[in-house]
Amino acid sequence: MKNTEPTLMQTGTDRPAKSKTDQFYDDVLTGLQSAPKYLNSKYFYDANGDKLFQELMNCEEYYPTNCELEIFSERTAEICKAVIGDGDAFDLIELGAGDATKSTYLLQYLMEQQADFTYLPIDISENVISYLNVTLPVTLTGIQITGLNGEYFDMLEKAASLSNKRKVVMFLGSNIGNMLVDEAESFCRELREHLSAGDMMLIGFDLKKNPKTILAAYNDKGGITKQFNLNLLERINREFGADFDTSKFEHYPTYDPETGACKSYLVSICDQEVKIGTETIRFLRDEYIFMEISQKFTIAQTDKMAKNGSFKPVYHFFDSRKWFTDVIWIAE
Ligand code: AVI
Repeated sequence: MKNTEPTLMQTGTDRPAKSKTDQFYDDVLTGLQSAPKYLNSKYFYDANGDKLFQELMNCEEYYPTNCELEIFSERTAEICKAVIGDGDAFDLIELGAGDATKSTYLLQYLMEQQADFTYLPIDISENVISYLNVTLPVTLTGIQITGLNGEYFDMLEKAASLSNKRKVVMFLGSNIGNMLVDEAESFCRELREHLSAGDMMLIGFDLKKNPKTILAAYNDKGGITKQFNLNLLERINREFGADFDTSKFEHYPTYDPETGACKSYLVSICDQEVKIGTETIRFLRDEYIFMEISQKFTIAQTDKMAKNGSFKPVYHFFDSRKWFTDVIWIAE
């Protein structure tokens, strides 16, 4: 996810757009100069953050990845049958593809079925896209792949301009949970505007379950989630020469079983000042930075989200414990 471009980029409108670094800097200052303070969790994923997230996915308490892997490995044929539909050619688009571990189950099976599809992974990380463009054709001989590096909606437009085939869009790993519920709803509505009737969504949602199980997943004994959060402060130090002392912040995860909101905060253990560029950010003792939401859902909520976005929910696939679901929605 790391981007160090120092210059302004041109948009199609002659209006200079901010580089990713300028945007990151502006977002950091906006968040830390707000009351209460916040940072956007999309910035967790620089090279270090990617590594920590890989570690998290392998840690005992963090269940969502294994649940979704179970669904993709046990229910491959059924998911693929739903995706293939009438057998017409389609574009299989993945938002935030990462290393495509889960989707590889589907890709492999679709290839065995000789389904007529092109895989279009979309990721904000250039590294991820070049990695997939190179490695997937080796592991999956003959796969048609067009990696797209950029923001989701820009790249969806690009995908639409590349072909008018039916679209199947995957958004896995409960990434949708990293948006506030209102944001997730408007995200689905905006997604729908980029699709045509009959196109499909395959979305992973982490479900409400025993609160202790959820809280433990975001408060692992090994402290990886803590490091994952603190890494964003370290990233701000690395990229903007800031002087956060991470030993002066405590990781504070919470889960509210009523709303399903699992939230992470970093709490300042003392009065302190942090320099970021030309700005000074003051923290009072016990003042917090809201770092991340990992929303947990009920099936009824996911169905409602589909309907509000003009999608029809047609399938719900579950792992054996019913902790996670991958749903298929059809654009109406
Ligand atoms: C990527 N995302 C769905 C993860 C989650 O569960 O919210 C990120 C994460 N944060 C802490 N642990 C994992």
